[in-house]
Amino acid sequence: MPKRSFCLPMLAALLAAAVPAGAQVRVITSTPHAANPLDAPDIPDPILDVAPPSITLLQVPGVSHGDEGYRPEVGQPGKDVIWVPTPDSLVKAMLTVAQVKPTDQVVDLGSGDGRIPIAAARDFGARARGIEYNAEMVALARRNAIRAGVADKVSFLNADIFQTDFSDATVVTMYLLPSLNLKLRETLLRMRPGTRIVSNAFSLGEWEPERTITTDDATGYFWIVPANAAGRWAFELGAERFAAELGQQYQMLTGARGTMVREGRLRGTAIRLTLADGRVLEGQVRGDEMSGPGWEAQRIRPAG
Ligand SMILES: C[S@@+](CC[C@H](N)C(=O)[O-])C[C@H]1O[C@@H](n2cnc3c(N)ncnc32)[C@H](O)[C@@H]1O
Repeated sequence: MPKRSFCLPMLAALLAAAVPAGAQVRVITSTPHAANPLDAPDIPDPILDVAPPSITLLQVPGVSHGDEGYRPEVGQPGKDVIWVPTPDSLVKAMLTVAQVKPTDQVVDLGSGDGRIPIAAARDFGARARGIEYNAEMVALARRNAIRAGVADKVSFLNADIFQTDFSDATVVTMYLLPSLNLKLRETLLRMRPGTRIVSNAFSLGEWEPERTITTDDATGYFWIVPANAAGRWAFELGAERFAAELGQQYQMLTGARGTMVREGRLRGTAIRLTLADGRVLEGQVRGDEMSGPGWEAQRIRPAG
């Protein structure tokens, strides 16, 4: 009997998230997690504004393709977390809120039966990869990809997510555990700014999500990897010149006391700064430069 590496409350939480077979589920909404000054009108709410494509069941009656030899059970042990599938409604909502598109490379960490990468390819046109430790689940996911007609766009790697490079992903999805999310957080923060991350059920600690996704039976969270904007910057606003020190915690920025910048926020490389006198600067961060209409800044010293 393999040693189970989960506690009972966590098992209960994961099992509670499993949708009963055949249940009809409906996306309710996605809401900004907190007042977000970067949620400008030109950033549509993807859940409300995009009619999501339908996701069909992966199992085709009468077609086994080898399934007769292996039937996974909800709650079966995994290396670091048991297998519980994400409900189809939340799969759709997670990929929709991340605005997955054909140019994306989606990676699901702990991909189970492959439903998230398969939906990303089939319903959103993306390339997708699943990383899964259980070899039988990998084989099942590959069969599911063939059945869904997306074997050319989807791959499954039989590997440990903590030993595997996924830095090529533009969208990362996961349904793990709070402790595993925290273990991944530094790796996720080192990904390219703008990389989108969606988690079923569990947060990333004090890294505040951009959005909370709610379906009839599940909750997910959405983040965007922020650019690095910490350090001392020399600003030019027309003829005006000043220097300001920016502190950064995840996507939140704080101007040092007594300097011209009061606070700010990043959404990937997009930046919005509020000055001490109330003026707002919006623009983009590119390495050691940032700029927007009528202003620019150079980083003169990185964060200590
Ligand atoms: C809760 S299930 C989620 C499955 C799928 N992502 C979904 O949302 O339907 C977690 C999956 O992670 C796998 N897993 C656990 N530890 C892992 C590890 N260290 N590396 C890769 N996969 C792992 C389990 O076998 C299981 O299939």
